[in-house]
Amino acid sequence: MSFPTTRMRRLRASPALRRMVRDTRLSVDDLVYPLFVRPGDAVKNPISSMPGNYQMSVDVLVQECQHVESLGIPAVILFGIPRAKDAIGGEAWRDDGVVQQAVRAVKQTCRQLLVITDVCLCEYTDHGHCGVIRERGGRKDVDNDATLVNLAKAAVSHARAGADIVAPSDMMDGRVGAIRRALDEAGFVDTPILSYAAKFASAYYGPFREAAESPPQFGDRTSYQMDYCNADEALREVALDIEEGADIVMVKPAINYLDIIYRVKERFGVPTAAYHVSGEFSLIKAAAANGWIAEKACVIESTLSIKRAGADMILTYYAKDLVGWLEELNRG
Ligand code: PBG
Ligand code: ZN
Repeated sequence: MSFPTTRMRRLRASPALRRMVRDTRLSVDDLVYPLFVRPGDAVKNPISSMPGNYQMSVDVLVQECQHVESLGIPAVILFGIPRAKDAIGGEAWRDDGVVQQAVRAVKQTCRQLLVITDVCLCEYTDHGHCGVIRERGGRKDVDNDATLVNLAKAAVSHARAGADIVAPSDMMDGRVGAIRRALDEAGFVDTPILSYAAKFASAYYGPFREAAESPPQFGDRTSYQMDYCNADEALREVALDIEEGADIVMVKPAINYLDIIYRVKERFGVPTAAYHVSGEFSLIKAAAANGWIAEKACVIESTLSIKRAGADMILTYYAKDLVGWLEELNRG
């Protein structure tokens, strides 16, 4: 009979030992909490496919942000649902638009909290696409270059309102460069760009589109968001965004794209974010509501895996819950 000499189990023997030898840690410092803002007063509309998440008016949002700040979460990302939609998404770059108002109000109240703004047009266009539509040969599609101008205007108006970071999520070619140039020209040389660099055309955005009231009214987003069969292309997307001036690059969604997160971090070594998206949230929520899985354990395992893959920061609807859960975990 032979006995193993290498015993991996030695270092698993107690909670304290396990805690000491961990190579990956997730903490509140890594979290970004997404929030939805809409016009009105005292509005707090539940989002049915995302229990615990709401569309909020600015006043309610400010209170929520104070709470988020008090939990120690470093940043929120804001999505706006405008009062009116049109063909080009003109509300997106109004200085009195809903996101711009929200940014001003939150920045006035919350001293520590970073406010990131999602820069896109799908919430603002009546057709629900992320840019300007043109028709060519009987086929409607998003006009890349015409859209860049509008995205740049939206990003500058967010910066003017006081956004700490702007985050373009449209997947048009050249938008990081266009936004960087526009920000610089307007004097916002110090406003970083968090680029949704490798954003895949994913079915996991379903609940978000209810939350943001932004489903495409015809077709889908496969002519601009990435085909999930491609990994090398994701690296090219990230390389281009870095060249164009992205300060932080993001992979989205997260759990089905851990290989992409890993390769991006390995290859480029720049600050890397991952978006644990609405569908990833709702899957866990729904199963937990049925008593089929242990919510807390699953969320910690999932978000930890995103960190282990290489993400420096995680955008997640579970951010507030995670604060307490991680305290317990990191204490052992
Ligand atoms: C808008 C945008 C989307 C998400 C973030 N910004 C949806 C989409 O592309 O349709 C998804 C976030 C989530 O699912 O949580 N471009
Ligand atoms: Zn969009």
